[in-house]
Amino acid sequence: MSDSAAVPAKKHSGASLRDMKTDGTKITMLTAYDFPTAQFVEAAGVDMALVGDSLGNAVYGFRTTREVTMELMLPHVAAVRRGAPNTHVVADMPFRSFDTPELAVANARRFVGVGADSVKIEGALTDVVEALCDARIDVMGHVGLLPQTAKDFKARGRTQEEADAICADARALERAGCFCVVLEHMPLGLAHRITEELSVPTIGIGAGPHCDGQVLVIHDMLGFFFPGGRFQPPFVKRYAAIGEIAVEACRRYVEEVRSGVFPDLAHSTG
Ligand code: KIV
Repeated sequence: MSDSAAVPAKKHSGASLRDMKTDGTKITMLTAYDFPTAQFVEAAGVDMALVGDSLGNAVYGFRTTREVTMELMLPHVAAVRRGAPNTHVVADMPFRSFDTPELAVANARRFVGVGADSVKIEGALTDVVEALCDARIDVMGHVGLLPQTAKDFKARGRTQEEADAICADARALERAGCFCVVLEHMPLGLAHRITEELSVPTIGIGAGPHCDGQVLVIHDMLGFFFPGGRFQPPFVKRYAAIGEIAVEACRRYVEEVRSGVFPDLAHSTG
């Protein structure tokens, strides 16, 4: 592994993240779905690794995240825990896994059992959040665009009425006990307003620079998909082009096997 100085000395808790908000230190979160991506994220000193249900799209090629189940998520959470032992790991609760407070607590306990430090739920389900907090499970909220139930992927909160409703949802989630709230795809002014109104940190994705922290899907920011083969929301910044590098490497391998360049003696068993 590279720069171990970048690894947080201690896993973040709700309290340490709130301190970061108070200090004005930006919080970083990236998704991670497996052992190597978890190692990358921890080596880079990212504050939280989210095992997002976005793995349904990014890893499994499903059309929506609604196809993601608990059984699918659990081994990924366990792999991320192994790859990032010193990072706060958030497990995203899949569609239908938190339909009632009782079901949510039972499923969240399964995530904690394989190494999650907290869980995330989409929407302002305050009874579910309260039940999870009563069971001593930390919960991250998520408002704005909610991919599990969305019919389209446009920004949310563009009308005053919708903006007020999203703001009210975020406040309700804080009151119910969320340690942090994700703000997805909304005007930066609305994200700013919510960030000022909440005492817990906000983590934005497509919500502008005023949030207390940021999250991106790791496959999007690494360009880790077949070139041109994945829809990219306009707010995603590409930091690498892994897909292009991978296709080119595979092409060279094909050429070298066909031409007899590989394997040479150095890559053969004597
Ligand atoms: O599943 C996911 O990756 C998410 C982020 C977009 C916040 O929920």
